[in-house]
Amino acid sequence: MGKLILVTGGTGFIGSHTVVELQQAGFDVVIVDNLSNSKKEVVDNIEKITGVRPKFECFDLANRELTRDFFSRNKNIDAIIHFAAFKAVGESVQKPLEYYRNNLTALMNLLECMKDFNVNNFVFSSSCTVYGQPEKLPVTESTPRRPAESPYGNTKAIAEDIIRDFAFVNPQAKCIALRYFNPIGAHPSSLIGESPVGVPNNLVPYITQTAAGIRKELSVFGNDYNTPDGTPIRDYINVVDLSKAHVVAIDRLINDKNKSNYEYFNIGTGNGYSVMELVNAFMKATGVNLPYKIVGRRAGDIEKIWADTSYANNELGWKAEKSIEETLLSAWNWEKKCRGIK
Ligand code: UD1
Repeated sequence: MGKLILVTGGTGFIGSHTVVELQQAGFDVVIVDNLSNSKKEVVDNIEKITGVRPKFECFDLANRELTRDFFSRNKNIDAIIHFAAFKAVGESVQKPLEYYRNNLTALMNLLECMKDFNVNNFVFSSSCTVYGQPEKLPVTESTPRRPAESPYGNTKAIAEDIIRDFAFVNPQAKCIALRYFNPIGAHPSSLIGESPVGVPNNLVPYITQTAAGIRKELSVFGNDYNTPDGTPIRDYINVVDLSKAHVVAIDRLINDKNKSNYEYFNIGTGNGYSVMELVNAFMKATGVNLPYKIVGRRAGDIEKIWADTSYANNELGWKAEKSIEETLLSAWNWEKKCRGIK
């Protein structure tokens, strides 16, 4: 039997792609998700891609009793990958307590269960948001963290600290935080992808919905930044490449290749693209014209960030491989599939 991995938030955007990669690498998976921001059909689509149906349980990990009950019924879990969290930056500003309670309680319930039920391997879904606007680019893992711009971002920084402190007093527990840059794209099968509820906040879902005619035009939030074309720069990483980093992290923990019992890695491509570069790459990759207009800056946006990925490349033996065009085309194919566009 393969090793069993608990994937929390496994029906979400990054979670579902990671379940696929784990199963294709021979791991068994049990998903826990409360379906607050995803659909149960994702499990069917994971099965269609991999030929294997992951186990699935629907409950809220912020509920301590239900979480403990799950671990008492599932004594053979080898590792946890923890994705389940609220992630809308703007909403987190409006509902800080909901964000802190949900994101941090679920994390602490899981860590407590690791200790009480002898699960020793933990991978956490963190974010480059912990760096804020760095003084020096690209950012390495030793770039200092900066105060978060939003309660959402703060939950990631606090979660990293909780994991670090937990690992310090629990030497048997091995933990890795993966600091994602901007995950985009969809599985090449177009069976899973990103499904934002309502008006998308993030750039690529807004682009694909505009291309599909659901939105009139893309608003480009500011072209007066100190960048070559004036629009902000990010490190956009293909979600399948990103998911593969989790498989490598799990292998590192299970096979004792980690160097300390709390490690963290930048998971990006190392390349920065401006908003306008991304818009042009989308039009080139898909042949679809994208209406856009330049509007004012969005509050809380940073000017530019991209990753130095050498530590992840050398230590994990992992590297992002897919081109930006291929990635944007996969996002467009997913949007077309969802909308029934030929
Ligand atoms: C945000 C969060 C980050 C989170 C990520 C994915 C912040 C500071 N960071 O990243 O923590 O992990 O979402 O959920 O909030 N843009 C437009 N028009 C749009 C949408 C976006 O011009 O309609 C621009 C933004 O100004 C930004 C870039 O596109 O320059 C990327 O925006 P977005 O996709 O929202 O990601 P981030 O803000 O980088």
